[in-house]
Amino acid sequence: MAIVSFLSAKGSPGATTAALLVAALWPRDVLVLDADPAGGDVAARLPGAAGGVLDAERGLLPLLTSARRGLGPQQLLDGAQPAAGGTAVVCGLTRPEQAGAAAGSWPALASAAAGLGATGTDVVVDAGRVTTEPVHLSLLRASDVVVLVLRDDVASVLHARERLAALGTVLRRADGLLPRTGVLVVGDPRRGDGDQAAEVVRAAGDRVEDFGRLPMDTAGARVFDGARTARPERTALVRAGRGVVAALAAAAAGYHREAA
Ligand SMILES: Nc1ncnc2c1ncn2[C@@H]1O[C@H](COP(=O)(O)OP(=O)(O)O)[C@@H](O)[C@H]1O
Ligand SMILES: [Mg+2]
Repeated sequence: MAIVSFLSAKGSPGATTAALLVAALWPRDVLVLDADPAGGDVAARLPGAAGGVLDAERGLLPLLTSARRGLGPQQLLDGAQPAAGGTAVVCGLTRPEQAGAAAGSWPALASAAAGLGATGTDVVVDAGRVTTEPVHLSLLRASDVVVLVLRDDVASVLHARERLAALGTVLRRADGLLPRTGVLVVGDPRRGDGDQAAEVVRAAGDRVEDFGRLPMDTAGARVFDGARTARPERTALVRAGRGVVAALAAAAAGYHREAA
């Protein structure tokens, strides 16, 4: 069982796209939890399994609201809707104000997500852009793997490095364990700046891992933006995604690690 969370430091490097790509290729049953505090966009991007639209009102907000009375893994499953491609999705908040209004409920959501493991379902979290005091810190701390998505340009690298350095200490749980934390670099493979970008950001903290590269691929990204694509498995993005999924599934199997 595992919770794998995707986040970004600044800009829009492709965290949501990476989360949906990984969920689509994940080797076990998986649920996508759209937990971007700024408001989710998965509901607007993925069509429902039956071809209609996902119900954006039926998702995280009612879960966080009812969490005041306790929240279990089954309620998370009940709150999910099947999206095109077969992935189950808990739709996100529709407005940023909702994240703060429900601030006290995030720890219950994190426990419910951790408890899903007993039912054999892994959770891919779209955690959105993360500050150093995020409202959903409990969910990040409960994650087995935290993936910082960045582009390979200088600004993206510097912001990612700063954010990882700051998160290094706050992600530590009461039991002293830390999520496996690493980088996923999105860039043009022909430029070849991804390796250097990953190296610079990894130096930000102790044992920051390298979870791989994703190419810039407009056609591939559109698969996770609601576009109909004849053979998504042939896109460069999906082909590269398989390697990333292998790295993340291996990290997830390693579970939390001891702090140094
Ligand atoms: N690997 C990629 N190649 C090409 N375009 C991408 C890629 N990843 C994301 N995009 C595009 O960039 C925009 C932002 O992506 P998104 O996943 O929403 O970023 P974030 O969640 O970090 O804000 C979207 O239009 C998306 O289709
Ligand atoms: Mg996003």
